[in-house]
Amino acid sequence: MIKISTSILSSNDRIKCIKTLNSTSTNYIHIDAMDNKFVPNYQLQPEEINELSKYSKKKFDIHLMVEKPIEYIKKIKCKNIINNITFHIEVNDNIGNIINVIKTKGYKVGIAINPDTPLDLLDKYLDRIDIVLVMGVNPGFGGQKFIPNTIKKMEELRKRNKKILIEVDGGIDNNIINEVKEVCDIVVSGSYITGSNNYQKAINDLKN
Ligand code: DX5
Ligand code: ZN
Repeated sequence: MIKISTSILSSNDRIKCIKTLNSTSTNYIHIDAMDNKFVPNYQLQPEEINELSKYSKKKFDIHLMVEKPIEYIKKIKCKNIINNITFHIEVNDNIGNIINVIKTKGYKVGIAINPDTPLDLLDKYLDRIDIVLVMGVNPGFGGQKFIPNTIKKMEELRKRNKKILIEVDGGIDNNIINEVKEVCDIVVSGSYITGSNNYQKAINDLKN
């Protein structure tokens, strides 16, 4: 069954949001970190993530939209609550080093890929990572419209690697889910869940 990772990005009370998510069947809480350099938005710095972790009973799926992932990862202290750390293939940094730092800390490794970035850039890393996060929107903001041709990228990825977990992020609601659920393992959804008045019902709509 498809797993749901709920993004708290668009929530205006993130502690309350996490407390509500604790009693739902969301599989993960998706944490969107942004440095105002890699993307034009500044959200969820390490100190805030460390603080939010105190309230969560769910594991964190951390999505770093930052230019310098290693500097950021070093400041994250909430080890026990982290499932994976995902960074972008588009960063101008040594990708192999970043993978090693995340592995050494004991987390699963994800690499995210933007809608306009060719899949070929990921090929040489696929055997060393756990998750590919296929962006369904250009990163930076919640509540955007899903870009349909990103589905082809997920299909092609599945052909190239049968084992890797495919996660999709951006613009997922109760309609788009039907187009992606056959080709991915984990779905990130933010505003569709946290903008509703019944998180569990929204999660059920996505899972069924
Ligand atoms: C976009 C973020 C997404 C986003 C998802 O840059 O990476 O995780 O918050 O939110 P929705 O579901 O509203 O597109
Ligand atoms: Zn995200």
